[in-house]
Amino acid sequence: MLKKIYFGSNLKMYKTTSETVDYLTRLEKNTEELRKTHPEIELFILPSYTALEASKKCMESSNIQIGAQNMCWETEGQFTGEISPKMLKSMGIQLVMVGHSERRQIFGESSFDENKKIISALKHEFSCLLCVGETAEDKEYKISDEVLRTQIKIGLHNVKTEQLSKIWIAYEPVWSIGTNGIPASKEYVQERHHVIKQTLYEMYGKKGEKIPILYGGSVNKKNACEYMNQPSIDGLYIGRAAWNPVDFSELINDVMNNLIK
Ligand code: PGA
Repeated sequence: MLKKIYFGSNLKMYKTTSETVDYLTRLEKNTEELRKTHPEIELFILPSYTALEASKKCMESSNIQIGAQNMCWETEGQFTGEISPKMLKSMGIQLVMVGHSERRQIFGESSFDENKKIISALKHEFSCLLCVGETAEDKEYKISDEVLRTQIKIGLHNVKTEQLSKIWIAYEPVWSIGTNGIPASKEYVQERHHVIKQTLYEMYGKKGEKIPILYGGSVNKKNACEYMNQPSIDGLYIGRAAWNPVDFSELINDVMNNLIK
């Protein structure tokens, strides 16, 4: 079986329901040929909660996967403003992201919170995209690798080897994300991915090596191929540069045409 190549976008708090449906419809059309000729492409989009149901419906007959940006660890209860695994399941959602840097930085979520979500998501049989990444301050103190190792070890605490096929990881250095983000060099990213792979190997042996590790943070049409041609990068997780369906399709096309691994 061909090794999967991941391309995903988190739409964050952008796009209304109708804008999301329009985006997805165009993305599906623009990538149709490419997805046919490259069945190894795993394309996923995480719209806002309010657009999830409509997104799921409009991608019903497509292999573009729709996932949620966050999830509460409880099935139901007195948790005002939260969305439960049961609610996501009822819409047919099978993928959930946990620990995006904006959740950690703005909403104060800790790796312990992310772990509770991961355990709950696995219990409900979701695939989980765990995001990890160091801040600019961590980098300055030269503790990036320690931070990544900690986020992974706590985030995946009590995750069993037989559940690993449901885990994806996105490495996203906080200092490289968003409008003020500084793109990280491909060498820097490759080194951090290597550390993540080593940590997973320590935790799970050879089976840990199978977990896909995506890179995100100021990925765009100019740097996407460079990143993807690093040996430890299994996919790209893109914000701004993926929110126009034409640009995103071109980026995927470029990467697939220039892949040398
Ligand atoms: P960006 O966002 O590509 O706009 O930097 C990445 C992310 O937050 O996942």
